[in-house]
Amino acid sequence: MTALDSAGLAQGTGDRCKVPEIWDALFAQAKELQATTPLLGGTLDQLILAQPSFEAALAATLAQAIEASAPEAIQLFGEFKTVLERTPEISEFAALDLEKLDAVNPACPDLLTGFLSFRGFQALQVYRITNALWVERKHQLAAMIQNWSAIQYGIDIHPAARIGKQVFIDHGMGLVVGSTAVIEDDVNIWHGVTLGSTLTQAGDRHPKIRKGATVCAGATILGNIEVGPGALVAASSVVLKSVGARKVVAGIPAKEIGDVPERLDAIDADFKSTSTQAQKR
Ligand SMILES: CC(C)(COP(=O)(O)OP(=O)(O)OC[C@H]1O[C@@H](n2cnc3c(N)ncnc32)[C@H](O)[C@@H]1OP(=O)(O)O)[C@@H](O)C(=O)NCCC(=O)NCCS
Repeated sequence: MTALDSAGLAQGTGDRCKVPEIWDALFAQAKELQATTPLLGGTLDQLILAQPSFEAALAATLAQAIEASAPEAIQLFGEFKTVLERTPEISEFAALDLEKLDAVNPACPDLLTGFLSFRGFQALQVYRITNALWVERKHQLAAMIQNWSAIQYGIDIHPAARIGKQVFIDHGMGLVVGSTAVIEDDVNIWHGVTLGSTLTQAGDRHPKIRKGATVCAGATILGNIEVGPGALVAASSVVLKSVGARKVVAGIPAKEIGDVPERLDAIDADFKSTSTQAQKR
């Protein structure tokens, strides 16, 4: 059983694997950027152009970031690469997370910039590695990497949490995800979000965020409750009861204020491409 199977969420994408396509694009973008921006030449060589594969580039990029917060002697590249090689779903999901980040976020110029510098993307991939280690019962190492990652990114995701694919974490600072939380495929989460326990429950005590839901900045969702498929939790809400599919909730305590609109421009890939083209004109 792989780490991601154990999440009960992810059995591979079922689609053609995106990794080769995303890797080709990252490599081409790195070559192009190196030609125009010598300042970044060494970084692009080290993290992309000298790497033989998407997995190796991801391991190098994450290791470099996390080592900055770990004790000096810790070298994480080898461990990360090994985990990525024996858990191919992580790369598959990382490629899908990156593709979504680039598609929906107007602040992300291209795949390469997202890969090398967006903390929500990187912290999510470090979590995926710690989840694999957790499932292999390497709990101490997983927890240490979780904490070094939290120091680096300000994003604290417990290794035992279960997270699907094509997940978009924007900004991310202050995000806390508890050990029995579930985040399904296609979920969008902003900074300052807590998926926590009420402190009055034990065992399975954290929220379940269903497919395609959106959790806005600063929302606190407590207890073993569900945010239904496609639902939206408004900024700074405190959610204590389950939210129905495609409903919007807001306030403290959160109450239903309506249905999610058909289109959310901030996370709509078509909107990004239209606005990007408009900026270029
Ligand atoms: C939930 C949200 C999407 C609703 O947007 P909207 O559809 O334009 O809704 P409106 O602004 O028309 O508000 C509808 C009602 O909900 C209330 N409401 C909206 N957001 C609220 C919030 N976060 N908390 C409490 N009440 C809220 C409004 O006061 C209004 O109440 P009224 O009908 O009594 O006047 C938006 O308010 C929100 O929270 N966005 C999050 C943005 C975010 O996290 N951005 C981070 C970017 S870095």
